[in-house]
Amino acid sequence: MANAYVPGLQGVVAARTRLSMVDGKNGVLVIAGFPLEEIAERATFEELVYLLWNDRLPNGRELADFRAQLAGLREIPPITRDVLEAAAERKAPAMDALRMAAGTLSLRTDGETLPEGQYRDALVAVARFPTIVAAYARLLARDGLIAPHHGLGHAANYLYMLSGTRPSDARARALDTYFNTVIDHGLNASTFAARVIVSTESDVISAVGGAIGALKGPLHGGAPGPALEMVFEIGEASNAEPFMRAKLARGERLMGFGHRIYRVRDPRADVLARAAERLFAADGDTTLYDLAREVERVALRLLDEHKPGRNLRTNVEFFTALVLQGLGIPVDQFTPTFAVSRVAGWTAHCLEQLAANRILRPESEYTGETARRWVPLEQR
Ligand code: ACO
Repeated sequence: MANAYVPGLQGVVAARTRLSMVDGKNGVLVIAGFPLEEIAERATFEELVYLLWNDRLPNGRELADFRAQLAGLREIPPITRDVLEAAAERKAPAMDALRMAAGTLSLRTDGETLPEGQYRDALVAVARFPTIVAAYARLLARDGLIAPHHGLGHAANYLYMLSGTRPSDARARALDTYFNTVIDHGLNASTFAARVIVSTESDVISAVGGAIGALKGPLHGGAPGPALEMVFEIGEASNAEPFMRAKLARGERLMGFGHRIYRVRDPRADVLARAAERLFAADGDTTLYDLAREVERVALRLLDEHKPGRNLRTNVEFFTALVLQGLGIPVDQFTPTFAVSRVAGWTAHCLEQLAANRILRPESEYTGETARRWVPLEQR
């Protein structure tokens, strides 16, 4: 007998991984053996990329080599720039521009000495995503492009390429914390898409392209922009309740709340709430942070009324919005910035899938008729 159809594949275990464990019942996230809280605020992003790809933290020399290798690959070649310029002329959404530009990463650049293969693709994708996203943000704003700064870490260099100024250590730390927090998260939709693609023994760049497409959707990576817009639209604390009540009454969802897996508070939300608090305090103006905390408090109460017993809680996107806003990243670059981190998770999953591969090929339940009769064209 055929297996039962499972809507949304909820509860279906489709991969084995050592990369991350999501315990939705207890609100725990483990990244390659480390509880998120243990590493998110301590590690640099490069250390976590190394951890995911090698299953251990690098020592000092290994980290220096790895950082130099990534930094040496940051520059985007002319063909990638051409694609971004064409996309900017047509004002393409940033995730579409990222997808198109990421496709060019299959092409080897002049003088490239990396051996061809899946690891080369993973390195190039992680190294160049920040350059692509920052370049596109500046092209859209009609600002001149800023070449990568090889002396800066991955997070600091991203902020530098976006703004043209060297970020403070506190700002670079906030972005490292954000990148570390969203680097990997079990078999989420984009990671699953990447694993499906690479399981056909396709290549990592193709898998990354599919994953970008999956991440673009508002039910996955597209939520922080709308979450922030909601906080801005609410404007002041007294408006939070009527605004969100009306939204729920119209059958709309409150962006930044609810999660497929977490039935308690998303542990990433706590890490990012702390990062946002520090960031806004360092800038000396906590108005937006305070308003967001009030919006969160009211939203949780209203969601409890709206779906009693469902325990809809704050997800990662709500505080992502605050951290990225605090860092001066434009709202339309929020989801691409998520991709700048998650591409490390996608590529790690691709390498893991390929190391013990079996093509991912589930089944469908046919719901149509089975004995239709052919009707000639002239009789239809
Ligand atoms: N606001 C209002 N109602 C909600 C919300 C919300 N944020 N989240 C869930 N619900 C409702 C659903 O409409 C559903 O109602 P129904 O039973 O009448 O159809 C009920 O609560 C149960 O929904 P779930 O089964 O928990 O939702 P599902 O697992 O299908 O979806 C999802 C999870 C997509 C994240 C959903 O909570 C949502 O749309 N949230 C808002 C968007 C968002 O913040 N997305 C980012 C997620 S984090 C990430 O992807 C990195």
